[in-house]
Amino acid sequence: QKLQQYNTPEDAAELINNARNIIVLTGAGVSTSLGIPDFRSDTGIYTKLAQLGLSEPQDVFDLSTFLIDPSIFYTFAKDVLPTTESFSPTHLFLKVLDDHHKLLTNYTQNIDNLEVNTGLSREKIVQCHGSFATATCMKCKKKVPGAQLYDYIRKGEVAYCKNPDCGTTPVGSKRQFSVTTGSSDEDDAEIAPGVMKPDITFFGEKLPDEFEDRFEKRDINMCDLLICIGTSLKVAPVSEIVRMLPSSVPQIYINRQPCRHYQFDITLLGNCDDVVAHLCHLLGWELNHPMLKSL
Ligand code: OAD
Repeated sequence: QKLQQYNTPEDAAELINNARNIIVLTGAGVSTSLGIPDFRSDTGIYTKLAQLGLSEPQDVFDLSTFLIDPSIFYTFAKDVLPTTESFSPTHLFLKVLDDHHKLLTNYTQNIDNLEVNTGLSREKIVQCHGSFATATCMKCKKKVPGAQLYDYIRKGEVAYCKNPDCGTTPVGSKRQFSVTTGSSDEDDAEIAPGVMKPDITFFGEKLPDEFEDRFEKRDINMCDLLICIGTSLKVAPVSEIVRMLPSSVPQIYINRQPCRHYQFDITLLGNCDDVVAHLCHLLGWELNHPMLKSL
């Protein structure tokens, strides 16, 4: 049972002022002002994929679909590849919260890796849906820097493992045969190198251990304010953070559209960059970002 009624931006600023351990849960909406599309808006990635004729746009990021036909992912992945070194005012807000010793953790669903461009320490960020920083072979499990896949992704070509042993040795056992010519189709399938998959979390995959370890073992008990920014909160388990936190923890939602499936103490509708700039103004904090100068 919440003890107090909160409604206004002034209330939100007061909650932030009084908090010491804020969880900020972010989604694709915090990067759209940089020209990066979100997923579910009219101009979002899923809408675009649907227009291109994909009946189930989420299949692009579905593990079982990837295992059957990785070319679907590789055809469309260029749209989600990180392309910028910049950051939005909302990314900067995370750093400002941390500078004021208020940020417990930023749980981001984004794979664009832009939070760190503000100078925010990696220790403050949980990339709930992984990132393009590394990639893993689906066959031999070798990990490589994700950048090795970028050219393939940009060209829309499937990237295969370059480990010379990949595909010649059943995973977990010693190499038993060498590649020979004139093998049957079945042998060819056996010796083919594995497909590389960026370490972003697909539907059907477990989230990185860090998510559960940090939230359930620590943050859930420490958090004294939740701020959700630029996310539709439609994808579990990240969206479950809202429900799992004790009801005594106030919750603020900053988004273009309201959330119909969770009740927040305060909903601040609008462009998140403008909203966080206003909150900083109310708090007397500087949010120096070139994109805000023209406001
Ligand atoms: P969504 O596209 O579902 O939601 C983004 C929300 O941000 C929408 O409600 C927009 O209205 C809002 N929004 C967009 N731009 C905004 C702005 N400038 N200011 C304020 N609000 C804005 O994206 P996510 O919630 O991040 O997962 O999606 C969650 C997950 O679904 C993604 O991580 C991805 C996707 O499937 C995987 O691929 C596993």
